[in-house]
Amino acid sequence: MIRLTTSGLNIGYEERLIVEDLNVAIPQGKITALVGANGSGKSTILKTMARLMSPSAGAVLLDGKSIHKQSTREVAKQLAILPQNPTAPDGLTVSELVSYGRFPYQKGFGSLNKDDRAIIEWAIDSTRMSEFADRPIDQLSGGQRQRAWIAMALAQQTDILFLDEPTAFLDMAHQLEVLELLQELNVNSGRTIVMVVHDLNHASRYAGHMIAIKKGTVVGEGSPENVMTKEILRKVFGIEADIIADPRTGVPLCLPYSLSELDSGRPATASQDAAAMPMKAAVSG
Ligand SMILES: Nc1ncnc2c1ncn2[C@@H]1O[C@H](COP(=O)(O)OP(=O)(O)O)[C@@H](O)[C@H]1O
Ligand SMILES: [Mg+2]
Repeated sequence: MIRLTTSGLNIGYEERLIVEDLNVAIPQGKITALVGANGSGKSTILKTMARLMSPSAGAVLLDGKSIHKQSTREVAKQLAILPQNPTAPDGLTVSELVSYGRFPYQKGFGSLNKDDRAIIEWAIDSTRMSEFADRPIDQLSGGQRQRAWIAMALAQQTDILFLDEPTAFLDMAHQLEVLELLQELNVNSGRTIVMVVHDLNHASRYAGHMIAIKKGTVVGEGSPENVMTKEILRKVFGIEADIIADPRTGVPLCLPYSLSELDSGRPATASQDAAAMPMKAAVSG
């Protein structure tokens, strides 16, 4: 079943179009991984699907209705997002942060009822943050901080969860910890998860669906078997890679071994930043 789709989505900053005519469908109850080079538009797409940004054309449809025509409160009961670099006010504690997740359900100003408190406790518990509940966010390790933000998103009790690079800056064990937690949420409560991840092998292991983005357009989508191919990796990242089967699960894993020739996808500049390219071209001649 599909509840969330984008239809002819154009998204830009000021005059500059970053995403053009994006049409994707997010499979319900699955983990979807959004992959692509730096600057390819992943965060822009995620923010628009979560209603933090408005498209200049097209629509994000949830159950057939445009989310941009609904109230913040209404949408926030259906989808939650953990942005790429979230920041919390100085001194804010974990439980205070998590309580923010209850805002779409609150009637008055800042009044939490018994249900809200129970849900906050559940969110803190299920992210294994109980012992840090009263600790300020700025006094947590990277992994703990990430779990605190996930707890806040959980307290929102939405069916759909967006996460922008939830494993960034974490060591391998803490990356797995976050991914296992997301998998648990997906398996145990059927939550639909859409995450941006840079590690393609994590995408392949944890996501049943992948969407590969290049310069704001979809270059591949489907199962990891369909997306983790030599051709798509060359096109999207400008790398040459061997694809092998995971000895444990059989899912495709990639072993990059070199950069592709310049004419096979990778731009001459070090980044695939859609905006930086014409500017650099203009400066250098
Ligand atoms: N707030 C902003 N204002 C103007 N341009 C932006 C802004 N945020 C991102 N961009 C540009 O949009 C493009 C896509 O960025 P982004 O969606 O963050 O890519 P990704 O998440 O894939 O790294 C880049 O060219 C970036 O410079
Ligand atoms: Mg990003």
